[in-house]
Amino acid sequence: MEIKKVKITEVGPRDGFQSEKTVLKTEDKINIINDLIDSGFPRIEVSSFVSPKAIPQLADAEMILNNVKRSTNTTLAALVPNARGALRAVEANLDEIVVFLSASESHNTKNVNRTVKDSLAGFKDIADIAGKNNIPIQGDIATAFGCPFEGNVSSKRLVEISKEYKQMGFKGVTLGDTTGMATPPVVTEAVDSIRQALPDFYITLHFHNTRGIGLANVMSALNLGITDYESCFGGMGGCPFAPNATGNICSEDLIYLLHEMGIETGIDLDKLISIAQNVENLVGHKLPGQVMRAGHRLLSYSMDEVPTAVGA
Ligand code: COA
Ligand code: ZN
Repeated sequence: MEIKKVKITEVGPRDGFQSEKTVLKTEDKINIINDLIDSGFPRIEVSSFVSPKAIPQLADAEMILNNVKRSTNTTLAALVPNARGALRAVEANLDEIVVFLSASESHNTKNVNRTVKDSLAGFKDIADIAGKNNIPIQGDIATAFGCPFEGNVSSKRLVEISKEYKQMGFKGVTLGDTTGMATPPVVTEAVDSIRQALPDFYITLHFHNTRGIGLANVMSALNLGITDYESCFGGMGGCPFAPNATGNICSEDLIYLLHEMGIETGIDLDKLISIAQNVENLVGHKLPGQVMRAGHRLLSYSMDEVPTAVGA
């Protein structure tokens, strides 16, 4: 099936900044999010309403939501772990709540200090608060393609959790590859299983490039007809509560690939490259993104810039 358009969510202000030792100034985060809105992202994860003790880097979620510009073209989403987070999100006028649990019990315990069953029970309270305030909810599953403590995650498990999400009224699920354990066959099995059990349930994919095959996973998912992906500027990102968690697939690299394939994203790649370069300066270390360094494939250089090997 031919795909003409793909929806990309930029998760840098959440997944990216939560993984950085350097805590960016709130003002810098606000400018970055405003630039992301200007560059055309339809959806951005702007922060998390989690405990500041768990993720101090995102303690300024309210300040961010109260000061970024709002555009009808961009949905501002944030992670919410409990009813307290949901009330904070309502107060901050968040566009979309994202609840999250892990497919594996051990990562769920590390990440949110409770069982998966308790997470699901808590989501009912969050859904209640969201419903009363007309805020849509999206459900994430972390460690969806494998857990760093338990190994393989079965597609049966993903179907079970997706069914719970559907019962709570969610329109779809985001499968998060927290420590980059997805491979094309694993992705295919997960997508096929969820589609078989819940044909009208929307699937979004959130890959990390921990083992260098993040974009290969996107290619295989495009072949399955998946049109929703999450990625991070500069290839930053990672969960502080998982060993060896490294960056998300890089937004510029992903968008470059999609545009080269004739797939629209509505995002201005040049603007995004400047944002990634700005973030790299602010965090003060090299980011793994590649297109932010190399530019477009047809970028041409003056011959005068390069020495001649011999005979000049
Ligand atoms: N917003 C702000 N503060 C919150 C909060 C929220 N949504 N939820 C809890 N807190 C505070 C509590 O008030 C308490 O503070 P205190 O010690 O000063 O009294 C502290 O955080 C612990 O609260 P408690 O309810 O006992 O939760 P916990 O210790 O079992 O932690 C979570 C559970 C879910 C709050 C915490 O593990 C968390 O925020 N995890 C998020 C992890 C994450 O974002 N991972 C990356 C994304 S994959
Ligand atoms: Zn992630």
